[in-house]
Amino acid sequence: MINQLSKGLSLCLILLTILSCSERADQSNLEDQTENKIDSLLSLMTIDEKIGQLTLFTSDYDVTGPTMREGYIEDIKSGKVGAIFNAYGVDYTTKLQKIAIEETRLGIPLLFGYDVIHGHKTIFPISLGESSTWDLALIEKAARIAAIEASAEGLHWTFAPMVDISRDPRWGRVSEGSGEDTYLGAAIAKARVRGFQGSDLKETNTILATAKHFAAYGAALAGRDYNTVDMSDRVLRETYLPPFKAALDEGVATFMTSFNEVDGIPASGSKYLLNDILRDEWKFNGFVVTDYTSINEMIAHGFSTDLKNAAEQAINAGVDMDMQGAAYYDHLKELVSESKVSEKTIDQAVRNVLRMKFKLGLFDDPYRYSNKEREQSQVFTKEHLESAREVARASQVLLKNDNVLPISKDVKTIALIGPMGNNRRDLIGSWSAAGDWSKAVTLLEGIKEKLGSNTKIIQVNGSDVEGNDQSEFNRAIAAARNADVVILALGENYWMSGEAASRSNLDLPGVQKELAEAVLKVGKPTVTVLMNGRPLTIEWLDNSSDAILETWFAGTQAGHAIADVLFGDYNPSGKLTMSFPRNVGQIPIFYNNKNTGRPMTDEKYTSKYLDVSNDPLYPFGFGLSYTSFEYNNLKLSADKININDSLKVIVDITNTGDLDGEEVVQLYIQDLVGSVTRPVKELKGFQKIALNSGETKSITFTITEQDLAFYTASMDFKAEAGEFKIFVGGNSRDVIESKFTLNK
Ligand code: NOJ
Repeated sequence: MINQLSKGLSLCLILLTILSCSERADQSNLEDQTENKIDSLLSLMTIDEKIGQLTLFTSDYDVTGPTMREGYIEDIKSGKVGAIFNAYGVDYTTKLQKIAIEETRLGIPLLFGYDVIHGHKTIFPISLGESSTWDLALIEKAARIAAIEASAEGLHWTFAPMVDISRDPRWGRVSEGSGEDTYLGAAIAKARVRGFQGSDLKETNTILATAKHFAAYGAALAGRDYNTVDMSDRVLRETYLPPFKAALDEGVATFMTSFNEVDGIPASGSKYLLNDILRDEWKFNGFVVTDYTSINEMIAHGFSTDLKNAAEQAINAGVDMDMQGAAYYDHLKELVSESKVSEKTIDQAVRNVLRMKFKLGLFDDPYRYSNKEREQSQVFTKEHLESAREVARASQVLLKNDNVLPISKDVKTIALIGPMGNNRRDLIGSWSAAGDWSKAVTLLEGIKEKLGSNTKIIQVNGSDVEGNDQSEFNRAIAAARNADVVILALGENYWMSGEAASRSNLDLPGVQKELAEAVLKVGKPTVTVLMNGRPLTIEWLDNSSDAILETWFAGTQAGHAIADVLFGDYNPSGKLTMSFPRNVGQIPIFYNNKNTGRPMTDEKYTSKYLDVSNDPLYPFGFGLSYTSFEYNNLKLSADKININDSLKVIVDITNTGDLDGEEVVQLYIQDLVGSVTRPVKELKGFQKIALNSGETKSITFTITEQDLAFYTASMDFKAEAGEFKIFVGGNSRDVIESKFTLNK
């Protein structure tokens, strides 16, 4: 009997499928038809099957959180789980999919999700590094390749992009984001969504993207992960939400709630965030998934009495899918029977999930991502590796250069000193998905391949990343003495940034500072190569090393890409997307702060520290090149404009050095007086341009009302009449400026 029923229902699904194949309708027609199909399916589903679609469990293939679950295969069989994460590879995902299709009553396909953050098997630089390229096309390309590889390995869905703005480098997760600026963060969020989702989710090489973590997770107090967040609605809307809205405008399929509370309400129970803003204001029609057990954590927050209460709060707030918490799995049915949750609410959540399964074409063919041939031919390809090298070169930021870089390829002897010089394990950084660190190219290998056998390379670790052992210091000093150039390779371990990886001091860990000081004392031309997941406090290094190159964790091709920069095959073009503080006491530090009533001067009673300046060591937008650029002739198309006019800002940039190079031209504004105070600078445009030596290019930016608007005293998002400053430059500090007036 059950068998017959199941066959009958499967036939239903086949009919739905056939219908969908023969459709040649326009988009809205198609959408209506999808909704009709969802209606038919919903009418066949039991409450248990519905709750199954709202349940996401981890497999034991990878571990990305504190709890595991036994018996998830049994749960798939009984239709009690509709999505699985941390499982990838065609063999394994096909095996699980087969269970869902062949052994459950309705044969609803599973959705496979995973943290594909900066590459899947071919690993690109960590996201903070990618953001330092300021190259949206490259960032999109990296996400596209990640999607091609992930989908070839059976995945349908990535938990990326992470679009959290953060101004606190103690927070380890700054490595996963795009830095401190909202405008840039929003542009990058869009690029990543485009890359992952492509132009059509029906293509088998596209995957659903996730805008996470909604919301304000990057503002965790004191940079301690998962910590409380408290901010005004104005700051939330103006600084933290726009990258999410940008992702949504680009069609992002899913949102993930954050672990933190905002204004006393944990995000997974926040009607304000999930219902009022996301659904009502923004009209999001994808689905909302929690972060790992974040419904359960509402008990520890002190927001829910028990798991049942937490489940009720989450579903009624607007959470569609429960990641790993089994809160819905254990309690939703009872909550429905007690009328604490309406079946309508459940149906709406199931509808949101099924819609995405339809969009992916999984009802047409649940095995469309199960292609062995694709898995073998489209993962870790030569082309992908070349792109990873391209992005890794562009992500490096030259922080200092007193004429030692680029190093001549004719150099006779190089001492490569420090724990990152021959380090492979850390190069792919945290959240490296299915990346295999053993395939990463070390800096030593990259240099050797670049220089061949004419150069002698003496490699000495000198110390570990952590720990107190100084026993190799003398060998390191001797190596430096015997070298023409010293490359100091220093940094953090990969696990020191990412989730649950906050640090209270941002010095180089272990005895790396002592090692560097000992080596620098030798007095040879010294270049420091940094590999790390966040801004560090390195003022001492800026005072002593001849050059500093920030390479982040540059991914699978790290060694080649860094060697390209060190030896001049690539002229560095990266710019910081987070300010580097001078010390931890300056944090939070960001360029778009406000003036205060007593802006810093030499006078006593002004807003400053007694022991350190207010300025960062390296400001937002900063990064040097092997050539130099000059900014001239800043002109505005008008000195007064009306609200509906646009303003053209024109500036000449000249490459005044001997080498060809690229520059990120940055445009900032300041609204001098507002009904609420405005930041001293706000990024409102940027263009990355290539200039040959001696060449001048005229660049035009267009400013519209949208760029001048903000949340006014009455919380309207609009521009106010008055005077504005315009700044243009190669970073947020060194700029030329002009002024205009926005008429009443
Ligand atoms: C917890 C992290 O906060 C989130 O970013 C990630 O996607 C999930 N775990 C799943 O691994």
